Order: sequence, then C-alpha cells, then structure tokens
Amino acid sequence: MDKIVIQGGAPLIGEIEVSGAKNAALPILAATLLSSEPQTLLGIPKLMDVATTKKLLQRMGAEISEQEGVHSVQVKTIKSCEAPYDLVKTMRASILVLGPLVARCGEAHVSLPGGCAIGARPIQLHLTALEKMGAEIKIEHGMIHAKAGKLKGAKIYFDLPTVTGTENLMMAATLAEGTTTLENAACEPEITDLAQFLNACGARIEGAGTDRITIQGVAALKRASYRVMPDRIEAGTFMIAAAITKGDLVIRHGRAEHLASVIEKLRAAGATVTEEKDLLRVKGGAVHAVDVKTLPYPGFPTDMQAQMMALMSISDGLSVVTETIFENRFNHVAELRRMGAEIRLEGNHAVIKGVQKLSGAPVMASDLRASASLILAGLVAQGETEVLRIYHLDRGYERIEEKLSKVGASIRRVKGAA
Ligand code: EPU
Repeated sequence: MDKIVIQGGAPLIGEIEVSGAKNAALPILAATLLSSEPQTLLGIPKLMDVATTKKLLQRMGAEISEQEGVHSVQVKTIKSCEAPYDLVKTMRASILVLGPLVARCGEAHVSLPGGCAIGARPIQLHLTALEKMGAEIKIEHGMIHAKAGKLKGAKIYFDLPTVTGTENLMMAATLAEGTTTLENAACEPEITDLAQFLNACGARIEGAGTDRITIQGVAALKRASYRVMPDRIEAGTFMIAAAITKGDLVIRHGRAEHLASVIEKLRAAGATVTEEKDLLRVKGGAVHAVDVKTLPYPGFPTDMQAQMMALMSISDGLSVVTETIFENRFNHVAELRRMGAEIRLEGNHAVIKGVQKLSGAPVMASDLRASASLILAGLVAQGETEVLRIYHLDRGYERIEEKLSKVGASIRRVKGAA
C-alpha cells in the first residue's frame, strides 16, 4: 500500500488546478445506462471511484474508451442488470445504477450497500420512491431485486434531502411514463450537473438545484457531449491548503457560486478570498476560530468538515464544529490529536482549542475526507507526517501530491509502503 510523506511548513504559493467533480462524474457515468446512443464526456477525473464505476458499467455491457481525457461511453444493450457485492462493497455510489437499470430494462439486482466508516448510510428513501413509481422491490441475501414494467410518473416527497437518492430518482423518471415531481429534493450542484447532462440527451427536467424537481418522461435519450463540473470539494480543500499554510493560491476552476458557505467561513477565519470567473484566490493570514455546522447545500458541506477542522486546530481560539449529516464523521479527530491538536468530542460536536503548532506524526486515514484533513495538517505541522492507507485519498483526489508539490509543498508518495 502506498503512503504519503510530507515535510510541513512551506507556504503554498502559485496556481493549482481543480479536476472534474467525482460526485458529478459518478452519476453522469451511471446515467449513460439510460441510452443506447454513444455519449461523449469531458472532465471525468482519474480516480479509483471512476475506475470502479467504469468496471461496473462494462460488466453491464458498456463500451468505454478514453482518448486525451475525452471519454466515449455507449451501452448499446444491457447485458447484465446486476451490480455485485465485490464492486458495491468498494464503492457505495454503485447504488446509482439502480434507477437507470430499472428504467431501461425493467429490472435491477444491486447489492445492498452496507454501512461505511462515516455512518450507517441507509438507502430506504431510494427504494420507497422507486416503489411509488411502480417498481416491486425485494431484499434477499443482501441483494436489492427491483422489477417493474414501465415506470410511471409519481409525486415523491423525500423525508430528508438525499443526494444520490435524488439522482437515482431523477434518472429513473427520465424514461418513465408521465410526469414525476421530487419534493424536498437535494439541491447540490452535482444534481444540477446531472440534470444538465440528461437534458442535453433530450430529457425534460426542470427545477434541478431547487428542492422541487419536475421530470417529464421521454421515450428515449439521444447522444450528447458534456463537460463535468469542477470538483467543489477539491477546490475547497485547496482553499484550506492556502489558509493553513499562510500561502497564496490561485485555484483555477474554483467556482465561487458553488462554495459560498466555505468562502464565508474562510473569510471569517482570517483568509482573504478573491472571486473571479472560474477562479478563486486565497491568501492565508492569522487563523481565527470560527464555528461551523454542516448542512445540506447550500449550507456548509459535510465533505469539507474534516478539512475545516484541520484549519481550526491551529486557530487563535475555541471553535465548535457540528456534524449534522453523518453520525460518525469524526474519524480524523483521533489522528489530528496524535499531531498535537486539542479536540474534544461531545456527541456530534467537536470542540477545538487552537494550538500554536502541530507536530508531524504517522497517521492513518479511514475515509476520503479524513485523509484530506490529515494531508492539510501535515502541510503545516513541524517535521514529517506520514499518511497511511491513502487508497481512500485516491478514491477522490486526482494526483493530489503532484498538484500540491507544484505549488511548493514538500510531499511525496512512497509506493508499496505498509
Ligand atoms: N439518508 C437516509 N436514508 C436514505 C438516504 C439517506 O436516512 O435513504 C441519510 C443519510 O444517512 C445521511 C443523509 O441522509 O444522514 C444524507 O445522505 P445522502 O443520501 O445525501 O448521501 P449520499 O447520497 O450517500 C452523497 C455524496 C457524499 C456526501 C453526501 C452528503 C456522492 C457519490 N456521495 O452521499 O460524498 O457526503 O452526499 O453531501 O455523491 C464524499 O465524496 O466523500 C462523500 C461521502
């Protein structure tokens, strides 16, 4: 297993580029199952989760090629409508094939994703909504078996906003008979991106990005060419890299409109953030303590909570970070403590007393954003930090060590480490 070794202390200065968004690329790739036509996709990041999704689609009959960053995906016929446990267990987002498969072939057999490091992560909202559209759903031997004739438009109210649930139902509804409305839908920009791709293919979706989405079913989707949106969480992670190292980074493809809550908090924490079209500039200064509470979009993203906590570890005061989306998303806390952070957990609150310096240590990440938080802490810590188990990082950050070293970080990947 690879590890990342960082010598902390260098301010990051220069220009850094954001890749295409993982959480937009995954549903958009899944959406190619809805059509027999070839789709051209740009900006798909090179990540483990993308590789897993491609493998899953290929098992289902997709022909996928890539040339100079342009993906071509065509699913002429669905050869298998099964997402087996060996792939689902490595990536929960495999559940995103459920909606498209039922819509296109009237059945799907998808391994039920289990819990993961950050929480139980149930999917019953996806299932009850599909039932409302006429699917019959059974769970047997750890598999979800869904069967339907033609799905029928329905009025669906989500008990709480679910990102992949909204995406699954939006995809299913594109080929359904009649009109579907999704109420209390999630509003994340990745949902708007998926809707834009589907509309480019001829779907009739309105309201994506709001909590009420209307989808008028169409008979078939046609070919399209689409560029995936930039990754707002990667951009946010780089913003914190600038703030925590007291550096000065120009973040290309950092979209201010997707990051309002993060920009607001970073300004309150003492960073200078300048917004321009398709780029953000962040200059670090003295780090002030701020309180942060994660919320569904446009609130502060849970996917930025761990990184923000790394920054608060070296603030000038006391801050409280509250996690409201996932019940167990504090995996980074014990590891940050090993680096000298003073953090106390009280239920879903982390109380952080800023310290003057962190010290490098070997640390182990147990989920994707926790890994990013440890990298950020390593960038400012005195001495050497070794981040182990970085396969989590490779699921969601493209060439992170290469990008960070280009702007002055002393960071390298050691291949095949324990
Ligand atoms: N929930 C339910 N029942 C359901 C579905 C969700 O109770 O049927 C709960 C979840 O347990 C959680 C909340 O609703 O407490 C929100 O979960 P959601 O369904 O929105 O999460 P998700 O769709 O599984 C996506 C991202 C996550 C991100 C969350 C929240 C993808 C592929 N994944 O997950 O990304 O944290 O939304 O924004 O889009 C990451 O990239 O590191 C990551 C974990």
